Amino acid sequence: MSQRREQWASRLGFILAAAGSAIGLGAVWKLPYVAGTNGGGAFFFIFILLTLTLGASLMLAEFILGRHTNKDAIQSYKAIAPGTPWFLVGALGIVASFLLLSFYAVVGGWIVTYFFRSITGQLQAPDGDFGALFGQITANPWEVGIAHFVFILITIFVVRAGIRGGIERASKLLMPALFILFLVIVARSLTLDGAMEGVRFFLQPDFSEVTGETLLFALGQAFFALSLGVSIMVTYSSYVPKDTSLTRSAGSIIGLSLFIALLSGLAIFPAVFSLGMSPEEGPPLIFIVLPAVFNEMAFGGFFFTLFLALLLFATLTSAFSLLEILVAPFAKNDLNKRKRVTWISGLLVYIMGIPSALSFGILGDFTVFGNIFFDNMDFLVSNILLPLGALLIALFVPWKINKDVLEEELLRSSRLSRGFFLTWLFTIRFVTPAVIVIVFLYILGFLPG
Ligand code: PHE
Repeated sequence: MSQRREQWASRLGFILAAAGSAIGLGAVWKLPYVAGTNGGGAFFFIFILLTLTLGASLMLAEFILGRHTNKDAIQSYKAIAPGTPWFLVGALGIVASFLLLSFYAVVGGWIVTYFFRSITGQLQAPDGDFGALFGQITANPWEVGIAHFVFILITIFVVRAGIRGGIERASKLLMPALFILFLVIVARSLTLDGAMEGVRFFLQPDFSEVTGETLLFALGQAFFALSLGVSIMVTYSSYVPKDTSLTRSAGSIIGLSLFIALLSGLAIFPAVFSLGMSPEEGPPLIFIVLPAVFNEMAFGGFFFTLFLALLLFATLTSAFSLLEILVAPFAKNDLNKRKRVTWISGLLVYIMGIPSALSFGILGDFTVFGNIFFDNMDFLVSNILLPLGALLIALFVPWKINKDVLEEELLRSSRLSRGFFLTWLFTIRFVTPAVIVIVFLYILGFLPG
């Protein structure tokens, strides 16, 4: 890599990479399971609302910071506020990304192992009980350990060589393929007997069930699904050409992500209710429900293999962004250093992930606060570190960067009016921090409810 900073070849290159980071397990795997354990409809509704307000304004804030400074997750804060501790916001993002990738790769490993079992015809469930099959697979430390390692290795190889360009171009084909396959699954799921009950569960809000915890999980989900709060979008947008419209880019990414989340819920919940399963399975949910749906489909085995391959691809593009943000500040554009740093950080991520991987098997009885290691890790990252990172970015970008610069960056190449800028500014300055602080206070018990 030369010393000159690279730029995305086109607006599309940046959108594909940012969308690649955003769209992954968040919309496909996490959304159904957190919606399922948090009451369904009301959760999904609140999640959409938070995505369109807090999520959208934060994504724009991260974009502005990255493009304006042209620097990575640490240096961009230093460029705006030299000699202050604000760069720690970037450091927090790096720590959060490290922890996030540690359990993300475990789920990536599950996809790897399901994929191999699917090609070799080993996804037969005992008595059609796919929950038992999942339990069998994850109880075997060798199988999950190796699959988890394979996932990390692929991530290391791609990030180490810096060959992202080809991947982004491939996603132009593979992401639409994933959408189309999703439509097929949704069609099958919706035509199962009693599917409507699942649709109601997922889309009909019942606000009487909403608790502080629902809000916290919806908040975490909104940031998780868009890769926000960890300065990844700061880093990615530092490579964006000056004439790219940030608002249009954010609009497409958020639209795609919400659409996939909707499809995912419509694929899962009708089947859950029709096949007499429970929406509260937690992290294994899609691994239990989807094989059962494909089982009900003509050529189901073939379609499931294809689905797993595409999901693996979407998951990897998110993992690349997570490893990249760990590597970039240390590699400093030096290729040899990049190789070393990538290996070391990738292996550390793997080691950190081992207790998460084993918590669905031999470490299943090891619980803290009544939860297995995986769940605690996911909770810490998604519901504490991401909202905290988001809060700090919302305090930094709109207050530390000059207002004219903000307006110029936000509106450049777009036809939006000054009113849009003022709305954004108000949301990111006041609404975003207020909502995050209130939800935190609520959870900590400082507010009645
Ligand atoms: N947005 C990614 C997904 O939905 C996960 C992620 C979160 C990636 C935060 C990077 C940072 O799968």
